[in-house]
Amino acid sequence: MANKPALLAILVGFAALFWQLLLRDAIYNGAGLGRKVQPISDFPYRCHRVSGDPNIQACEDMWLDQKSRTLYLACSDSMARKQWMPNIHRLNASARALNDHVVAMDIDSPTGEGGYAYRVLKTPGFAGVDGDGRIHVVGMTGTTSAYGVKTQIWLVNARPSVNAKTGELLDNTATGANSTIEVFETQQGSDSVVHLRTYADPQIATPNNVAVAEDGGFFFTNDHGPHKVGWQHHLSSFIGTGDVSYCSSAGVCKKVAHGFKFPNGLHLGSDGLLYVPSAAIGGITVFRPKPDGSLLRVHFIDLDYPLDNLSEDSNGDIYAAALPKGMQSLAAFEDPLNQKSAPAAVWRVRRLNRDVPNKYQYELTKVIEDAEGELLPSTTTCVHDAKTGRLFLSGELSLHANPRPSGYPN
Ligand SMILES: *[C@@H]1O[C@H](CO)[C@@H](O)[C@H](O)[C@H]1NC(C)=O
Ligand SMILES: *[C@@H]1O[C@H](CO)[C@@H](O)[C@H](O)[C@H]1NC(C)=O
Ligand SMILES: *[C@@H]1O[C@H](CO)[C@@H](O)[C@H](O)[C@H]1NC(C)=O
Repeated sequence: MANKPALLAILVGFAALFWQLLLRDAIYNGAGLGRKVQPISDFPYRCHRVSGDPNIQACEDMWLDQKSRTLYLACSDSMARKQWMPNIHRLNASARALNDHVVAMDIDSPTGEGGYAYRVLKTPGFAGVDGDGRIHVVGMTGTTSAYGVKTQIWLVNARPSVNAKTGELLDNTATGANSTIEVFETQQGSDSVVHLRTYADPQIATPNNVAVAEDGGFFFTNDHGPHKVGWQHHLSSFIGTGDVSYCSSAGVCKKVAHGFKFPNGLHLGSDGLLYVPSAAIGGITVFRPKPDGSLLRVHFIDLDYPLDNLSEDSNGDIYAAALPKGMQSLAAFEDPLNQKSAPAAVWRVRRLNRDVPNKYQYELTKVIEDAEGELLPSTTTCVHDAKTGRLFLSGELSLHANPRPSGYPN
């Protein structure tokens, strides 16, 4: 017969191990217990919200085309996001937003009230879901041709699963979404985009964001790995089933790194390294891609803030949107209209001695933080315009304030 105290000791041992391995990171970093969060007045920025514009809400991701000085935003409807957001298990497909769109904003043409001139890009000829022409934007990135004439927009499209014969929605709570990666092309100043290609593959399962490689292939994060639904989906951020995958330009896809806890807005740096942040436990894993798309892990940047999406400015500095209090961010997501705001922060990640081969040294600077969530509610992406020093912040949650062309350093 098992000796009770011994059994108890083993159980306590397991609990402690479980705590160590899984929960401690999740609670201290993910939920933000015990973190000191600074007020926005500590930072030298004046902030403006772009508010009340239905075209510019729930903009989850942005990409700044430095050559044309155009900020591209992937925008949706914050109320509908609560129903349809497969990346966080919102799978009520019938209530999804039907007006997701990409905005091209001319950041050198201010309009007065803190806003900028913009175009909502049309997508003529794009088939969408069974011919409805609709897109369901999540992550986004872009590339520009050498002279900046043509721009490609790469989007994660969270399309719902449908019956291939009838086109009717399946029960997406059972099937999960049918996410794809879409490539569009546009020209400077145009008000539409041309659809070039859809990448659909079983390996493109829970895509969150995409980074385009030199060879025309692309890397992306599956934030829940292969698990679209079910208990493994729900536990994914604890047990680390998130992955990084690569598809060649011909559309042959494979997993190239695994074991991530909610990997999200990855970035392929101008230094050739692939940066993969974690929204669940924080930190950025750094990889060196090899010619066949496989990855060599070279470094880990220990930044204990849950991180959203990464972007790079023209100086080569990486800007990371962070969620100082993960739990409050979730509450704000539930309640976008009530302006229940969560603290937000932005970190600059600067690689030092970039020219020295195999040296991975990073300087981390908190650029702005908003303890009360007054001005930067639930930021998911930050783009730095190095030319003017402005920060553009946007988030999937806030109804009234995206993006916030905020800071002009005082
Ligand atoms: C899904 O959305 C529909 C509206 O389209 C709503 O009537 C229904 O209650 C929602 N279902 C759930 C489970 O929230
Ligand atoms: C980062 O951005 C992507 C797409 O822009 C979005 O799906 C994701 O939710 C963001 N990260 C978090 C933790 O919100
Ligand atoms: C998923 O999307 C692809 C690409 O459009 C399509 O061929 C396929 O039929 C879709 N599958 C489901 C279940 O919706």
